[in-house]
Amino acid sequence: MDTKLSRRTFAKSLAGAPLLLSGQQATPRARVKIDTERVIGDIDSLLWGNFIEHLGRCIDGGIFEEGSPLSDSNGYRRDVLEAVRKLNVTLLRWPGGNFSSNYHWTDGIGPRDKRPPRLEMAWGTVESNRFGTHEFLNYAEMLGTQPYICANLGTGTWTEAQQQVEYCNSSEDTAMTRLRKQNGREAPWKVTYWGLGNEMDGPWQMGHRSAEDYGKFALEAAKLMKWTDPKVKLIAAGSSNFGPGSDWTSWNRTVLEFLRQHADYLSIHMYVGNRNNDFGDFMASSVELDHRIKTTEGIIDAALSGQPGNRRIYIAWDEWNVWYRARGAQERGRRILEEHYNLEDALVVATFLNSFVNHAHIVKIANMAQLVNVIAPIFSNDKGLFLQTIYYPLQLFANNTKGKALELFVESPKYKCARFDDVPYLDASAGYDNGSLVVNVVNRHPDQAIETEFETEDKQFSGPVAVSEVNGPDIKAENDFGKTTVKTVERSVTPDGRKLRYRFPPHSYTMLKAKLA
Ligand code: AHR
Repeated sequence: MDTKLSRRTFAKSLAGAPLLLSGQQATPRARVKIDTERVIGDIDSLLWGNFIEHLGRCIDGGIFEEGSPLSDSNGYRRDVLEAVRKLNVTLLRWPGGNFSSNYHWTDGIGPRDKRPPRLEMAWGTVESNRFGTHEFLNYAEMLGTQPYICANLGTGTWTEAQQQVEYCNSSEDTAMTRLRKQNGREAPWKVTYWGLGNEMDGPWQMGHRSAEDYGKFALEAAKLMKWTDPKVKLIAAGSSNFGPGSDWTSWNRTVLEFLRQHADYLSIHMYVGNRNNDFGDFMASSVELDHRIKTTEGIIDAALSGQPGNRRIYIAWDEWNVWYRARGAQERGRRILEEHYNLEDALVVATFLNSFVNHAHIVKIANMAQLVNVIAPIFSNDKGLFLQTIYYPLQLFANNTKGKALELFVESPKYKCARFDDVPYLDASAGYDNGSLVVNVVNRHPDQAIETEFETEDKQFSGPVAVSEVNGPDIKAENDFGKTTVKTVERSVTPDGRKLRYRFPPHSYTMLKAKLA
């Protein structure tokens, strides 16, 4: 990054923040208090979910490449599988996305060579159907991840959705289960998570409906799906359309009026980008995310208020990421939505993950969109792959942040940006699990370190603190084939009883791992 330029640009948006004037030397300071009894909620392992769609090179040419020397005999790319494993993907959503709204799942079963190629209208290609239900569910099984199937509630029927559950989950002897066995799978997969359609509020969606029409339609599908397998958990399509003038809260209110006794989760989507090249504002994107979570929680509470029983509905943030460069109407065909991520994108990803942990009581599912090539942490070609900048924070969170989410007291210098007045430079979350503490911290400052004092309220630090830092030479630094500029660097620091001092470098994400006694 050109430091002078960034200071100037940044100073413009910093009215009222004297700490940050250009040329100013003093190191900003912050304080964080940790109390293991101040619990927000249980961190659901399903926060580390991901998503594969029949879109561009995500599945075909991403996780699945028949005939490649890098693939196994079933067509799964071994190198991609290995990189996915290291991400600890706990929940994998499929087959879309927009694709799911015209996907007829019976096209994707049976002998691969006999499956019908179909015109694919969400992304403007031809779908070969060579990767279908068996390929997806077997992949999830190989990974040890929970599958999440998004049913077609666009052009699909109630019966199709019901029979999809029966095909995957039933142990009865029926035409559907005989078909499954004939296609090589004896035991049911027992898929727990099912989406009631995708982004049905969007006019871009095939089979888009009004909130009332969707609510009525999804309710009948939900009844049939739950009567087929009472153990399924259903995810209702909530808001995705946050454009100017869209009334996203009213969609959620109406949909929950119909589905409050049947939906287990309400799905929300959010993509962000740095369109104006305004680092400070881009880094504050999770403030908007926090706001949407709080608003949605209120809508859910209102929908359940006075209802019989003790039903809970949680938020499934089942599509989220940075996505703004590779999009647009011209984006149709095979190499699409192939974002090349930089350090600032990775930091925004870390702040989103902080936000999910900080709302662990209500956000119980989150799926980064998507896993490979298409707005993805893993980027492959026919010779290999590289790990994008956003891979590293996701990997650290997914492998380490568990247990109870703690409500931290954070006193941090703040800044003003285009959208918000008081954005803390330090953004943090914490997980506490049986004596193990993980604190995730993003320093949103572009060019100043933040000297931070941690203090534990009810316990002492015990032994050294492991530090994992994701950073790079400047905020626009990227990785590529053969070039890993942004990555995780590890070290350790020594605390002092109940205190720990740590200096978070500019534009960094840091995970601190400590034992408390
Ligand atoms: O993830 C890319 C697309 O974004 C998905 O297909 C759709 O659900 C969303 O609009």
